[in-house]
Amino acid sequence: MTQAQSGRSAFITGGSRGIGYATAEALLRAGYQVTVTSRKEDEIRAAAASLGESGQVRGEVCDVRDFEAVQSAIDAHVLAFGGLEVLFVNAGLGHFAPVQDLTPEQWSEVIGTNLTGAFFTVKAAIPALSRAHGYVILLSSLAGKNPFAGGSAYNASKFGMNGFSEAIMLDLRPLGIKVSQIMPGSVATHFGGHTPTEQDAWKIQPEDLAQVVLDLLEMNPRTLPSRIEVRPAQPPRK
Ligand SMILES: NC(=O)c1ccc[n+]([C@@H]2O[C@H](COP(=O)([O-])OP(=O)(O)OC[C@H]3O[C@@H](n4cnc5c(N)ncnc54)[C@H](OP(=O)(O)O)[C@@H]3O)[C@@H](O)[C@H]2O)c1
Repeated sequence: MTQAQSGRSAFITGGSRGIGYATAEALLRAGYQVTVTSRKEDEIRAAAASLGESGQVRGEVCDVRDFEAVQSAIDAHVLAFGGLEVLFVNAGLGHFAPVQDLTPEQWSEVIGTNLTGAFFTVKAAIPALSRAHGYVILLSSLAGKNPFAGGSAYNASKFGMNGFSEAIMLDLRPLGIKVSQIMPGSVATHFGGHTPTEQDAWKIQPEDLAQVVLDLLEMNPRTLPSRIEVRPAQPPRK
């Protein structure tokens, strides 16, 4: 029996669009019950409604920068679905500017969402994941190993996320919880206010990363790919 066939559930931060939404679609198709979150009530309600029936998918307004809100959303998920097997730590954003122009508010929003939000999400879910011998999958970035000009806050958040992921992999492995981080390059989403068009066909598509998540969940329980880098196979020539 695969994990999906045994009635399991997944909690996805940042599931109103992009990679989180595509992963919710794939997990629902695989038989998981799913909670998706975002900060905006209208968008998360619309996303949940288009993803499927209310018994299978729940939409929660939840800002990952607010620990109490994250804990309530995880507790509500466990109550609704009877447990939690998969945590997809995906919510993220970026502000890009030379450090001399970056504001303290932009810095705090990026670090608070991408890094502290990841800690809050994992922290709130550990008891349920421990009971289930579950799986934490963190959506990091190649920006977590390749710095670029204008990326000080985003690079710092994703470099930090990589260190966090690898440390908690060691903490949680003895509890029977697997931890993997996925580090993609360019993905065709609305990240940073971008609108995907046919010009983005060369990029990784959100459903490609959803497939990586499914592949990790299907991996033999004895084996743990802890760090997965994903690139476009044919980037445009410079
Ligand atoms: N696109 C890329 O090229 C790329 C490459 C590598 C890694 N990534 C990473 O992939 C992840 C997903 O991004 P995406 O490309 O799918 O972007 P996206 O389309 O902009 O989706 C981001 C999601 O995160 C949610 N979100 C943002 N801040 C949040 C907060 N404080 N609390 C809860 N939810 C929040 C957004 O919903 P609301 O705005 O409604 O809250 C949205 O659902 C991010 O961690 C990003 O850093 C993206």
